[in-house]
Amino acid sequence: MTIGIIGSGAIGTALARTLSRAGIKVTISNSRGPDSLKDLVRELGPSIKAGTREEAARADIVFVAVNWTKLPAAMAGLSDWKGRIVVDANNPIEAPLFKPADLGGRVSSEVFADLVPGARVVKAFNHLRAELLATDPHSDGGRRVLFYSGNDIAAKAEIAALIERLGFAGIDLGSLEVGGRLAQFPGGPLPNQNLIKIS
Ligand SMILES: NC(=O)c1ccc[n+]([C@@H]2O[C@H](COP(=O)([O-])OP(=O)(O)OC[C@H]3O[C@@H](n4cnc5c(N)ncnc54)[C@H](OP(=O)(O)O)[C@@H]3O)[C@@H](O)[C@H]2O)c1
Repeated sequence: MTIGIIGSGAIGTALARTLSRAGIKVTISNSRGPDSLKDLVRELGPSIKAGTREEAARADIVFVAVNWTKLPAAMAGLSDWKGRIVVDANNPIEAPLFKPADLGGRVSSEVFADLVPGARVVKAFNHLRAELLATDPHSDGGRRVLFYSGNDIAAKAEIAALIERLGFAGIDLGSLEVGGRLAQFPGGPLPNQNLIKIS
């Protein structure tokens, strides 16, 4: 299994840090190219390497963590998805204005899915602030909860297994339409809920 990350900001780095802790190989990318990531990958450890957007997008599982309005440019030209899993860690709002994007009543993950035709989209890793996502998920005698949702059962099972391997407790919220709406910021009730599963 190969993993790519598009976006090396707060969430992309938090994802890479979490995957690095589990010793999982990752190619991380951004808009400025691999040279701009030299210091970051050195800090993150040997399982994380810098690549181009295209290289990251060729992985079996591709995490996308990009500012909402920049997503069309970030996904442009990456058309060969062929059933690979794309994790939508994005939210439809961004600094500095924090004005919610106009989604025409749709769930943001469904809008995002239009940018990655043929991919199996799973919404996950978007409900916590980056600083919290990056920390050890073993906390307060349990494991930090991450939510996931999607329309493809097998893709969700793969992300559920990855979530468990990373030390989190995963909770399946159902389809993109149902679960995406619950976990979406702004609008859903679940963003920023730092929940610990005791078991
Ligand atoms: N920050 C949080 O706590 C948080 C929590 C939950 C969800 N989210 C969501 O996660 C997403 C990312 O947020 P963030 O806070 O990580 O943003 P960020 O720190 O501003 O980082 C955004 C990243 O996107 C990259 N990018 C922009 N245009 C690109 C392009 N055309 N091709 C490739 N990469 C491109 C940027 O590349 P460069 O570095 O080269 O500019 C940067 O690495 C957003 O949708 C946000 O709503 C954020």
